[in-house]
Amino acid sequence: MADNVGVAVVGVGFVGGQAHVPAFKKIEGSNLIALCDLAEDRVKPLAKKYDVPYYLDYNELLEDEKVEAVVLSLPTPLHYNMAMQAIKKGKHVLCEMPVAATIEQTKELGKAAEEAGVVLMPNLNFRFAPIYVKIKEMIKAGTIGKPIALHFREFIPASALAEQWPPGSWAWNLEKSGGYPDFTLSVWSLDMFRWMFDCEIESVAWKPSYPKLEEAGGITGYNTMGVIKLSNGIVGNLHYGATTNAAAAISRLEVYGDNTNVLHAINTDKIILYGSEPERQEWDLSVRGTRVWGHRQTDAHFVQSILQGKTPDITIDNAIKVQEIAGQIVGSE
Ligand SMILES: NC(=O)c1ccc[n+]([C@@H]2O[C@H](COP(=O)([O-])OP(=O)(O)OC[C@H]3O[C@@H](n4cnc5c(N)ncnc54)[C@H](O)[C@@H]3O)[C@@H](O)[C@H]2O)c1
Repeated sequence: MADNVGVAVVGVGFVGGQAHVPAFKKIEGSNLIALCDLAEDRVKPLAKKYDVPYYLDYNELLEDEKVEAVVLSLPTPLHYNMAMQAIKKGKHVLCEMPVAATIEQTKELGKAAEEAGVVLMPNLNFRFAPIYVKIKEMIKAGTIGKPIALHFREFIPASALAEQWPPGSWAWNLEKSGGYPDFTLSVWSLDMFRWMFDCEIESVAWKPSYPKLEEAGGITGYNTMGVIKLSNGIVGNLHYGATTNAAAAISRLEVYGDNTNVLHAINTDKIILYGSEPERQEWDLSVRGTRVWGHRQTDAHFVQSILQGKTPDITIDNAIKVQEIAGQIVGSE
């Protein structure tokens, strides 16, 4: 068995530059061979910081035989072609989510990877986020009895949305991206519910709205609500938002159990259990860096799956399932 995998991170913007590059530099079994980005002013300083070469041209990168795996942290509309190119060159692919703008393209990539005998893993990193791992463990241990209901809300600041994905960017282009930013950003948590409760999302009813925010420079935000029913009977209430200021940004999961206890996971670091005797218990998770949202652990799982010749726990079917659920936001206004 080889003792490392030659990895290249392609696209070193928000998630590539801040999460995947530092993670792949550190994790066991990963040999970070190169970075690749069209924007030299972005990739050059990063390559210097991490002491790795960089490519501006993806085709040239794919010719590098030392590169055994690519991490595609690129705008979603580029995933399909660039993943297909890598698969055809026999490279393993860790692909950011959504994997492609359509379910058909996502399935095609899965089939191509299977035929080529390479790993194609979607980056559904919430499964590895320590806060959700602990919540899952607590539920499994019977802390709240049988889970019966959930509330989830995830608000990113309107200013962050405006900076990252302003009107006119790919994330607002239905044809290129498969949905609006609420579609793109809901896939990780939808996958997390399937994984946490070990069941399917049986049905969903979405009500999105896209208000224009005059006070925030006239940008368009989103407030998207969903009601889900899981196959084990859990009912859930979801709210994805990007209309608030930064002070109100939050990620919060509440899970209600049939023994009357309730678990709250607040942002990435705080868990509260509402019970009786004691009425309230709190845990602070002191996780830092690229582990917080599970990126580093997901990246490590990708590398270990390749080294051990195993199918990763996160498969293309997981991506298809959540893209189908999130895709129903489109047209439900
Ligand atoms: N897993 C997560 O936590 C998470 C969070 C946010 C976004 N995402 C996903 O990650 C992907 C990228 O999102 P982002 O917010 O990081 O985007 P971004 O715009 O910040 O970064 C994309 C990078 O790709 C580069 N690029 C564009 N075309 C290229 C090409 N042909 N060759 C090489 N480089 C090219 C750009 O120059 C840019 O640096 C999207 O699919 C998004 O949905 C994942």
